[in-house]
Formats: sequence, structure tokens, C-alpha cells
Amino acid sequence: MNKNINMEILASLCKRRGFIFQSSELYGGINGFWDYGPLGSELKRNIKDAWWKAMVRSREDVVGLDATIIMHPAIWKASGHADGFADPMVDCKDCRKRFRADQLCEEQGKQLIKEGSTFTLPEGTVCPACGSKNLTAPRSFNLMFKTYVGPVEDDSAVAWLRPETAQAIFAQFNNIYATARQKVPFGVAQTGKSFRNEINPRNYTFRSREFEQMELEFFIPPDEAVELLCGHVATLADNPDLAGAPQPDWGWEVWHRYWVEQRLAFYRAIGLPEADLHLYWQTGDELAHYARACVDIEYAFPFGIQELEGIAARSDFDLTQHQKHSGKSMEVFDEALKNAAKAKTPDELAAFRAKTVAAWTARGKTAEDADAFLDKLLEGKYVPHVIEPSAGTDRLALALLCNAYDEETLTDAKGKTDTRTVLRFSPAIAPIKAGVFPLVKNKPELYAKAREIFARLQRRWNCFWDEAGAIGRRYRRMDEAGTPWCVTVDFQTLEDGTVTLRERDSMTQERITLDALVAKLDEAIG
Ligand code: GLY
Repeated sequence: MNKNINMEILASLCKRRGFIFQSSELYGGINGFWDYGPLGSELKRNIKDAWWKAMVRSREDVVGLDATIIMHPAIWKASGHADGFADPMVDCKDCRKRFRADQLCEEQGKQLIKEGSTFTLPEGTVCPACGSKNLTAPRSFNLMFKTYVGPVEDDSAVAWLRPETAQAIFAQFNNIYATARQKVPFGVAQTGKSFRNEINPRNYTFRSREFEQMELEFFIPPDEAVELLCGHVATLADNPDLAGAPQPDWGWEVWHRYWVEQRLAFYRAIGLPEADLHLYWQTGDELAHYARACVDIEYAFPFGIQELEGIAARSDFDLTQHQKHSGKSMEVFDEALKNAAKAKTPDELAAFRAKTVAAWTARGKTAEDADAFLDKLLEGKYVPHVIEPSAGTDRLALALLCNAYDEETLTDAKGKTDTRTVLRFSPAIAPIKAGVFPLVKNKPELYAKAREIFARLQRRWNCFWDEAGAIGRRYRRMDEAGTPWCVTVDFQTLEDGTVTLRERDSMTQERITLDALVAKLDEAIG
């Protein structure tokens, strides 16, 4: 595979073949927005379907949600986005261009200086556009897009386009819990558009202002509840079987690692090679104050190793914030937990309380908070904690395109060389599964047979009918679209029902019956 691909060549293929177009290109385009064309929209749909299948349909402990993009603005107050979801930006006073301060420093081999919430540019930082040193001090710029609901554009009508899908899951937690017939641990998954007014969209579709997310909020009990229920809390040091079924004694640390493994397995299954996937464990300074751990799953893009997904252990921060801001309880009740607490002796309970208070205060919480939590816990009530695997659909589409892109030099029998461009998508995410070709157009019986075969395959999979030009050219067009198989209907088909099946990667051809072909595609596409 040719991994040193030039992004301009890839972008040009994506445009030429209808994967990705610049949004509003007719009017000169709009920076940070991209459209997916006929092949790209199929690719994205397949990615989202694969994610939904892995995260929701194939599990008994995850349910779905499809929430609105515009929600009550109080949600963004509670989540912290209204006040804190900002990037530091600087303006060049000479050329008037605007940059993200952290990116600007990074590109110049420097580090933005951060003290509390104040940022300062290091000595010698220059404008990357004109070289001037006449830059403003970094200022915070909130990334949420603002709009107004209804006809009056005043402060009472302000609303925001969601910057993440996650908050709707927290805000609807009580409704989902009341209706889904799930018990903690369980998760809620959602895919959908999110919007961030990026200062500097870049790297093709990687950092866009409108994008799609695939997020899971997986709710787990606090470790203290696990300890009461199971008598101990399993940690990674206990070597839990992360590939096996989740266990009731798992603490947050094991659940977090379990989701990292699940997500890595997902990326491998849709065709990203292990060697190009990296894990970046955020360190103490980088972690949000409420987060216990956060891992980025990164992919080696041609423009650098960059994040595809963040998997955060967010404690009970989100639901507790919504409990505070809405005044409504976000607690769940577990009868077994209440009974487990009741079964303890007073001495055991006193030791449990002392241990918990000590652990909480060591994490910077107050003893009063720990006591209030324990009072509820011993009644069987708690606010669930959460593990959040949050993936970017567009980033994954781009990673899959980069991974699939290949240029192959072919030499024919006479020694003539030729370059074949091929997208080596795995069958499950390939936009078109099979190209179907009649060998010739002018034989009605053969043509009708080919249409019949196309109709049969098309009922199951997205297929493409092509009757134009030489078969070799038709193969090449399908190679560029990433189509794993081509099916040619010829004169022998009329005699014995077999077709020629040509495989994209090996370019080998075999004769196969229609039933065997359907079975083969079924097996490979899943
Ligand atoms: N919900 C996490 C994120 O959007 O990055």
C-alpha cells in the first residue's frame, strides 16, 4: 500500500469520482464545510451502519437515541460549553488574518503558555501568513454556532447548534432509563451532526465546522456501589478478560479499557491496519478536571498522526451537572445495592465509610460531599458514572479513504506498463459492492439475463450497472470507486448460468454460479 499519498491527489480523486465536494462550490465554496457525493454518501452510510451494528444492534446493553440539533440553551450552561468551550485565537494586526494560538505555536516548534485560563504567546511567535510579529494576545473564542429560535432576535431567543451529540443523551437520561428496560451498566448511542465554529478548518475534511459524530455514553455504577455489591472492585491489575463478557465486579478502570479494546476491534474490522492505529493516553495536565482517564485512538494520516476517537472516563460529572442545573434527580435506584448495604454490620459500614471519605478527599473532594454520596448509596441510590467513546464519522471516512488509496503499476504481456488507481475498501464499507456488466449490449437475451442478475444482487446490496466501453475500462472505473467485485454476464451465462467474477485486489477472475456468488458476497460483506 502506498501510504505516502499526496492529499491533493486524493482530494482530486474524491471530487472526480463523487466522494467529496466542496460545499457550495458553485458560489466559490464555504470554508470548513464539505458535501458527500454519490459514492461518499454511501461510504458514510456504511460507516454509520457498521458503528450502529457494533455498538447497538449486536449488544443487549446499548440502546439508541436520535435527538435534535438545537436544544434548550440551559443544556450548554450545565455542560460547561457556554462558558468554557473555547479555543485561544490571535489576530495578525498587519495582514488581519486569524489563527488558533495553540496551532500557530506548535507549527513554530513552540508551546502556548497557559496560566489558569489566560494564554500568552511565547517570545518570537510570528504570523505564518506575513511573518509579522505584530500579533494580538490570545483571546478565547467560543466554538458554538449561535442562532435564534422564533422570529425575535433577542437574548431570550438565543440557541446554539450542538457542538456534540453527547449532551442530549445526558439530558434524556431519565426518559431513556424509564422506558428502555435497562439497568446500569448500560449505554445510549447516538449518531448525528455537530457544529464547531473552528477558527482554522484544515487538513481537508479532518477539521470541519459541520461534522458527524458517533457517540456512546455507557453508564456504569460508581466503584463504591460495585464494592458493596461484589465485596471488591476488579481493576486492570486483576487481569480481567477484556474480550469476554463484561463482569459485575468491573470498576471504571476496567470498563474504560474494555471500551478501548472494543473500539480498536471495530477499527480493525472495517479495515484499518493495526500498525496505523495508535493510542494516546492523555496525561494529568491534559485531562479535564472531572475526567479520570482519556485515551485518543489515533490514525496515521498522511498529514500526521491524528485523533479518530476519544474514549473518556467522565465519572458522574455530566449527570450531576444536569441534576444541579435542572433541579431534577438523575439518580438510579438499585434494590440489590440497598440490600447489600443492609447486610453489612455497623463495623463494616463504618470501615467502608472511612475508606470512601479518605479516597474522596484524596481526589480533592470534601468529606461532606463523600458523606452525602454515601448516605444515598446505602439507600441503593446513585448518579451513574459514564465511559464515553466519541468518534468522528468524517474523520473515519477520511482515514478509510487514505488507507484504501493505492496506485499500482501493472505490466502487460508485451512489457507495457500502466498505473491502476484502486481504493481497497473492505467489502462492508465499500460504497458499491459489485459492478454488473453485460459483455455486449446488442444481444437482447444476454442483456436481459444481465439485468435479471443485477436486479437480484441490487435487492441485497448497492450495485452498479455499467454497459459502456470495454470490459477492462469498466473494471478500472470500479477499481477507482473501491468496488470489491465485478460480475460479467456473457454467452456462457446463457448456457450454464455461471458468470465471471473479477476480484478487485487480486484482479483474478473465476466462473461462479449465481447462488455461489450471492453466498460469497454475503459472507464477505456480513
Ligand atoms: N463528546 C465529546 C466530544 O464531542 O468531543
